[in-house]
Formats: sequence, C-alpha cells, structure tokens
Amino acid sequence: MRTPYIAGNWKLNLDRAGALDLARGIAAATSDATGVDLAVAPPYVHIEAVAEALRGTSVRVGAQNCCDQDSGAFTGEISARMLKEVGATFAIVGHSERRHVYGESDELIAAKLGAALAGGLDAILCLGELLEEREAGRTESVVRRQLTSALADFDRAHLGRLTLAYEPVWAIGTGKVATPDQAEEVHAFVRGLLAGLFDDAAAASVRIQYGGSVKPDNARELLGRPNVDGALVGGASLKADSFTGIAAAIR
Ligand code: G3H
Repeated sequence: MRTPYIAGNWKLNLDRAGALDLARGIAAATSDATGVDLAVAPPYVHIEAVAEALRGTSVRVGAQNCCDQDSGAFTGEISARMLKEVGATFAIVGHSERRHVYGESDELIAAKLGAALAGGLDAILCLGELLEEREAGRTESVVRRQLTSALADFDRAHLGRLTLAYEPVWAIGTGKVATPDQAEEVHAFVRGLLAGLFDDAAAASVRIQYGGSVKPDNARELLGRPNVDGALVGGASLKADSFTGIAAAIR
C-alpha cells in the first residue's frame, strides 16, 4: 500500500515572512495528520528558515531544483550537498518550468536526478506533455522518453527514494485540471513503464503524484484513482488552508 504524498511547490513566491507564516500555518493544521506524507519546496533562500519552522513536525522540506554538479565553477548553482546542509531532504527534478522555460534537456535532468540521489536527497521526478503533444496523440511517447532517459543510469537501490509526478503542462497554473480518467490513464501507463524497467514489485512501490491545478475541491476524485498516489501542488500550496484541505480530502 502506497501512502499518499502531497507536496507543495512554492515556486518563485513568498518573502521570508510569508514563507514562515505559511510553514507555521501548515504545521498547525497538520499536527494530527496521519496516513499522508506532506512536504513543501520553498525557494532556496527560505529552505533553512522553513525547515527550522517545521522542525518536530512530519512535514518534509525540499528544494525545487538542484545542480547536476557537486562543486566547482558553476556560477549561480546550488548542489544537493548544500541543500541537505540547510535542511532539504528532497529535490524536485525536471519540473516542466525547468524543461520548457529554462530549456533543461532530458540529459541534464538525468544528471540532476543522479546528483540529487548521490548527494543524499530523495527526488520527485516530473514528467508531462505539452498541449500540442497531447493533441498530436504523443502523450505516451513523451512521458516514455522523459522517464527512460531520466532512469537510464538509475541504481535500483535508490527506488525507495524516488517519487514521480505526472504534470500535464497544459494543466499547470491554468485551472484546467486533467480529468481523473486522463490522470489515471497516464499514471497506469507510467507504472507499466516502471514494471518494464524494473519489475512489478518495484513498479508497485513507487508513488506517482499528479500535478496541475489540484485544489481541495478536485483532490478527492483525482486522488481516489488507483494509480494516483498524491499531488504536486503549485498555486493551492501557497495558502495553508487550501494545501491542508487537499491533504484532508484524501483521508
Ligand atoms: O509543481 C506544481 C505544478 O506545477 C502544479 O502547479 O498547482 O499551480 O497548477 P499548479
């Protein structure tokens, strides 16, 4: 049985006071949360303060990205080791905004995934097609390419530290949520890919979150599908009541 996993991706939002307020609000509202794993990914510069604010709670703190390198002449980058040192326990890798706004390639994303795991962080690896790819019937081929390239050199000993997030790009920040059937179809496809890459037991163990306009009022139906194991939440994770409302919807 996979424990549902709800992660909030705060993206480029919140000043320090706002980040601390949100962290405290989430901590207060989830002190008795059971049966669900919760996490937040603040902007890099707030990770340490948010981790401190959430100390003693079960809410994990992670990063929205991480460098593919450990150290050296890589101006502007932050390594997994540095993130771990300030309290991050996971990194989001391959988010569609990294792929499509900042042009990250499948190869770079594979390297980032390897670096995150080697640096001691768990990872949420994001997959998802653009609207034109879906309309051209290419959803499965895109998701297959993204998954197989990211896991090309993956050490299966790290499977317990890997979460996948299926985020159709056309549903991110648009209010246009995938239907539960659309999400389930791709999640089941991805789990089949995992079974082919590893085996059935491995495939059954990996959590696959859905991301794209998840809100408290659509969470129950989406997360009720057998292969939808949680959510990666953007906009609705910026308010404690809506983020915790999503978590409450699945209990
Ligand atoms: O990482 C989160 C996703 O990009 C979803 O964002 O909930 O604002 O659509 P959203």
